Amino acid sequence: MAFEERLGEIAALVENRLAALLGQDALGATPPVLGAAMRHAVLGGGKRFRPFLVIEGAHVLGLPDTAALDAACAVECLHCYSLVHDDLPAMDNDEVRRGQPTVWKAFDEATGILAGDALLTFAFELLARPLTHADAAVRAALVLGLAEAGGSAGMVGGQVLDLASEKGDATSLHTLDGVSTIQRMKTGALIRFSVEAGAILAGAVPERRRALRAYGEALGAAFQIADDLLDAEGDASATGKAVGKDAAAGKATFVTVLGVEGARARLAELNAEARASLAPFGEEAHHLAAAIDFVSNRRG
Ligand code: IPE
Ligand code: IPE
Ligand code: MG
Ligand code: MG
Ligand code: MG
Repeated sequence: MAFEERLGEIAALVENRLAALLGQDALGATPPVLGAAMRHAVLGGGKRFRPFLVIEGAHVLGLPDTAALDAACAVECLHCYSLVHDDLPAMDNDEVRRGQPTVWKAFDEATGILAGDALLTFAFELLARPLTHADAAVRAALVLGLAEAGGSAGMVGGQVLDLASEKGDATSLHTLDGVSTIQRMKTGALIRFSVEAGAILAGAVPERRRALRAYGEALGAAFQIADDLLDAEGDASATGKAVGKDAAAGKATFVTVLGVEGARARLAELNAEARASLAPFGEEAHHLAAAIDFVSNRRG
């Protein structure tokens, strides 16, 4: 099966499961407007790249896709919450996401904040449900990993540094070290955890878990460089979000610090690192290997 077909297969599986998990009936006493905002944030768009990594990471270690599905949906819910908050007026102030009005635009700011809060909380509820994995120790390891990746030393901390870099006196962030730290926290941590979640679900031996972690780390860095390049050179109709905003906002990104050519060169180095980390898995990991090229060549 070609990579695109595999990504599409997983995206369809994830879309169906998320629609069921976030249906108004499944959400119990959730106020309908909040349920609608949560569904607006999550359903009908997105590459589902992090769920792909969870499911494919588990798959190379022998698990069927359905055994990793709810954990994959949990990661996607946390990712969607991060996008909803990232788009708020107080943060990147964006009005279009995945080709649709952002949640705060379609509803209002308070609903955007609260729908993000609800999706963040729901991600952990989902990981803690016995249906996600029969072994409570595995569920606890997933909860710990997602909390670390998404929290103040991970995604949230990275977002704080990203916004701090917009200030004129934040010169230390406008360096290769500075931008590497920002990206490792704001984007890399969740991508790295997505791959590692597959290993946790499959009960991988430490050596294999470490190999997947190293792959995820390089891939996560590459992912944000590609995002920064798309902001600099991409097309809003393909990305489904505004472009040309990072430089205008004065953000420290790989492109603002290294230039387009420098960012591309760094991307190529990271791709080689990610590929080398997959060596222990051989041909089994061909979809994970193809994901490296997908990240670099994507238009949206
Ligand atoms: C966008 O993530 C935000 C970043 C962390 C760079 P994606 O490019 O995965 O966005 P969707 O989920 O496909 O919309
Ligand atoms: C966002 O980075 C990273 C998140 C944690 C959401 P960006 O602000 O560059 O993401 P886009 O370009 O809005 O998707
Ligand atoms: Mg941002
Ligand atoms: Mg943004
Ligand atoms: Mg961006």
